[in-house]
Amino acid sequence: MARSALSVFVAVASASYVAAQVPTFPATPLASLSFAYPSQIPYKAVPDSYVRGTQTGYNICNSTTENQQSLCQTAFVNSISDFCVFAPATANSTIGDTEGEEVIWCTKKGHGGRLIPDGTITGVQVLNNNNYMQIVAFMNQVNININSQDFGGELDPHGQDLNGNPMGGLLYSTHFSSDSTTVQQIHEWNMFVGGNVTAAKICNPSGSNPAGFCQHTLDRIGVAYNMPNNAQNNIFEVCDSDAMDIPGVYTLNGQTLSYSQPAESLGPISTMPYTPRIPSSSNCQTFQSSALYTDLVSVSAPTPTGASTSTPTPSGKSGSSGTTGTRTSSGSPASSTSGSNGAGTITVSLFSSILGVAFSVAFLA
Ligand SMILES: *[C@@H]1O[C@H](CO)[C@@H](O)[C@H](O)[C@H]1NC(C)=O
Ligand SMILES: *[C@@H]1O[C@H](CO)[C@@H](O)[C@H](O)[C@H]1NC(C)=O
Ligand SMILES: *[C@@H]1O[C@H](CO)[C@@H](O)[C@H](O)[C@H]1NC(C)=O
Repeated sequence: MARSALSVFVAVASASYVAAQVPTFPATPLASLSFAYPSQIPYKAVPDSYVRGTQTGYNICNSTTENQQSLCQTAFVNSISDFCVFAPATANSTIGDTEGEEVIWCTKKGHGGRLIPDGTITGVQVLNNNNYMQIVAFMNQVNININSQDFGGELDPHGQDLNGNPMGGLLYSTHFSSDSTTVQQIHEWNMFVGGNVTAAKICNPSGSNPAGFCQHTLDRIGVAYNMPNNAQNNIFEVCDSDAMDIPGVYTLNGQTLSYSQPAESLGPISTMPYTPRIPSSSNCQTFQSSALYTDLVSVSAPTPTGASTSTPTPSGKSGSSGTTGTRTSSGSPASSTSGSNGAGTITVSLFSSILGVAFSVAFLA
């Protein structure tokens, strides 16, 4: 009697334990969810509670939510003058700490999100072809709440639990529609944010290989491998471009090979078997930033947390290696360097000693 009562109790207890557990994966991955804009946009694209918690912001965004505290997570990437970046809601955050919670910061009003403070973006190259649009921009990242030393990471609609980074983040564009005004959902996109650079690629839903061109599994090898470009600081341009090689696919001794990223537990990536090819571009049109970003004129950068109001920029770091190149689950060693002409070009500091040190420190900690 006592024995069977005990097993009943155990059975009941484990049943209720199972019922209380949150599911690990959504029934449908975020990248496979389709919502027509604006009629079908849900308040939250990821409403249920999963392992990483619930979606922190929302997807229905309008004039009420358009302010500098907005938690809108529906991004638009339309053109050089009209795009949004996913970045932290709270000042001085790292992308690694907040990748599930980023909100939109836009160059134009009308998307229901925050506006990027005037002067934050200091150079942009847009490369266009039938398969994707790629926007690579130099920026002063503290103005959109990113810790000044953060090399950041990669955001995409997949993520470790298929709910996306940010969780529930949706992306729309008019760029690929035949009339250039119809809004289309972009299911395959990715975005590197950090190292004072933001680089976004949106893949044409009708293109030849959207998941391939917007490959999201090579986050650790950064902008140069995922979004080859020749963006220059202080230049704002839009070019036609050949399509890049599918990220990770390369040719060696006449053989086509595919690179896979090693596990982070194996330590920093110190060698690569290939160098990415920058696709050739043509028909570049250049612009003045003042003509592109008219909506931003009155938007000023937030005062850095902890800094006095008379100090417009954060003071230098104390030299603790723990604050440089914060390790993220999707760390992207992208950085800007100065070329011989004095204009910065966006390269990848893949083998940068700073990152190497930071990664080692993080692994020992
Ligand atoms: C505006 O967006 C907010 C936040 O998502 C939502 O609660 C509200 O219903 C929206 N308003 C309209 C008129 O759609
Ligand atoms: C970003 O730019 C600021 C201002 O020039 C600089 O202090 C900081 O070190 C840069 N951060 C990174 C990660 O490159
Ligand atoms: C940003 O955060 C870092 C690390 O937490 C801290 O050392 C630094 O003082 C903060 N900077 C500002 C401007 O608040």
